[in-house]
Amino acid sequence: MSLPGRRKSSLAGAGGGAGAGPFDTLGAKHGAPRKGGRLPVYVAGVFFVVFVIVMYGEDIRSVTLEPFARGVGPVRQQAVVVSDAGRAAATPRRDVLSSSSTGKKTVAPRRDVIASPERPVPVALPRDDGRERPGHAAAKTETAPERAIRKVTAPKVKKPKKAKRPRRLRPARKTVAAGVVLGSPETCDLSKGEWVFDNASYPLYREEECSFLTSQVTCMKNGRRDDNYQKWRWQPKDCDMPRFDAKVFMERLRNKRFMFVGDSLNRNQWESMVCLVQSAVSPDKKYVTWEDQRVVFHAWEFNATVEFYWSPFLVESNSDNPKIHSIPTRIIDAGAIAAHAQNWRNADYLVFNTYIWWMNTLNMKLKRPGGRDWEDHEEVVRIEAYRKVLSTWAGWVNDNIDPARTSVFFMSMSPLHLSPQVWGNPNGIRCAKETMPLVNWRGPIWLGTDWDMFKVASNITRAAAPRVPITFVDITTMSERRKDGHTSVHTIRQGQILTPEQQADPGTYADCIHWCLPGVPDIWNSLLYTRIMSRPDAATAALTAR
Ligand SMILES: *[C@@H]1O[C@H](CO)[C@@H](O)[C@H](O)[C@H]1NC(C)=O
Ligand SMILES: *[C@@H]1O[C@H](CO)[C@@H](O)[C@H](O)[C@H]1NC(C)=O
Ligand SMILES: *[C@@H]1O[C@H](CO)[C@@H](O)[C@H](O)[C@H]1NC(C)=O
Repeated sequence: MSLPGRRKSSLAGAGGGAGAGPFDTLGAKHGAPRKGGRLPVYVAGVFFVVFVIVMYGEDIRSVTLEPFARGVGPVRQQAVVVSDAGRAAATPRRDVLSSSSTGKKTVAPRRDVIASPERPVPVALPRDDGRERPGHAAAKTETAPERAIRKVTAPKVKKPKKAKRPRRLRPARKTVAAGVVLGSPETCDLSKGEWVFDNASYPLYREEECSFLTSQVTCMKNGRRDDNYQKWRWQPKDCDMPRFDAKVFMERLRNKRFMFVGDSLNRNQWESMVCLVQSAVSPDKKYVTWEDQRVVFHAWEFNATVEFYWSPFLVESNSDNPKIHSIPTRIIDAGAIAAHAQNWRNADYLVFNTYIWWMNTLNMKLKRPGGRDWEDHEEVVRIEAYRKVLSTWAGWVNDNIDPARTSVFFMSMSPLHLSPQVWGNPNGIRCAKETMPLVNWRGPIWLGTDWDMFKVASNITRAAAPRVPITFVDITTMSERRKDGHTSVHTIRQGQILTPEQQADPGTYADCIHWCLPGVPDIWNSLLYTRIMSRPDAATAALTAR
């Protein structure tokens, strides 16, 4: 099947002619993974290998002695991991050297290579050399749970070894202990990294313990058998992310409003955030309210809210009713945002997204400027319409947000997993029965993600609101590897949990857009947490100064 790209760029085949989308350039984009022009890095890597063999010979030995389910070379894995670190060591990295305004932060090197005494877990899964191909990938990834699990248990067993490593305590840890500012430097790119199986620290909460989860996302309750999808930690390449701490975060949110604005993926992330923080709030002092476009989690004793505001295109559209919106003809008013935006004004944190509703058709219907009603519209190429809408949005942010009070984030696109042949599982049906992330996969995956939209959003958030910093949060690349994380057939449809018959027909019923919770959106929120806690907060600073 040579046209996986065609189906992918439209949802459930709804958009005729979607194939003319970005994937017509498949050939052009299939070029070699970024490999060229790295000679100096490679040389530095070799030096670093020598250095590391001297320093960490013991670790390498212990890693190479681990049993592997198959012949993926542990030595090669080390070489790959080490040369990453080598690059880091060879180039003076700004993220290592830079510090926050308090001058207290530094970055620790990767921990997945060297298990730290404080965090008793993970070792990276073996990577291959990037030559993994669809067809081989399936067999390789399906054996990985055993491998992952075996590797995860290893460091815990070898307790004596850990005791010998005091030199690996790092300055970053002191920062955490001091409690002034947590997190990682802004310059550290959190989107580059890998998924590490970590069943000691994950999930961050239990599905059955968060009563605020809706049955759309409670996959285990809805019959899913495997739960490893809850146990993957995201390890950025160049720094560490602090573990989400509900108490610390709720203190930061005291007397504040935290608001997600966007489509159902942002609601998915809202549910995750509520579950992440709710354990810090006493049982009778928290509740959720629904009104019109808005769902609000109230943390009564903190005078704080975590809210979700429904506006799938950010600007006004004919699909803005959160309940009655399955309208085949979606029409956007690209210049009109005030009716929604007046509800965002007093938020202290604003987290926006808009993507999935753009993916049904190649062209979008835009209401004509000055048009009398929705009938008065024109068709505009998707990417141009997206640019227009985001410009309107960024203009509003620029003119209406007080950057001294409000932090603004834009979440990049949440990817879909509809075409298993793309990740080398020709017998798969959408994302059904996927139980492992693509841990060994290097380079791009052709899932139908519209990277042109990604670039537009990235550009606009950077440039179109000069008065107000907008943090563009790249969740796309990391989430593309999480084919295992979707709700699939363990979800609801029109308010009802899928029947056994429907569950048996994933080709029709699997939802490969939304995510199980606990799961991938918890990591997105950990990125937000990392960014927010990295920045000084006036109230917190005053407290700790005492
Ligand atoms: C992690 O997984 C391994 C392998 O399944 C298991 O032996 C171990 O008990 C698990 N640890 C935790 C904390 O669940
Ligand atoms: C509660 O929070 C709001 C902002 O969300 C603030 O305006 C108000 O003053 C707070 N109330 C108290 C009693 O601190
Ligand atoms: C993003 O901005 C860069 C530099 O300003 C520009 O070269 C590029 O064409 C822009 N891309 C898009 C998709 O707008």
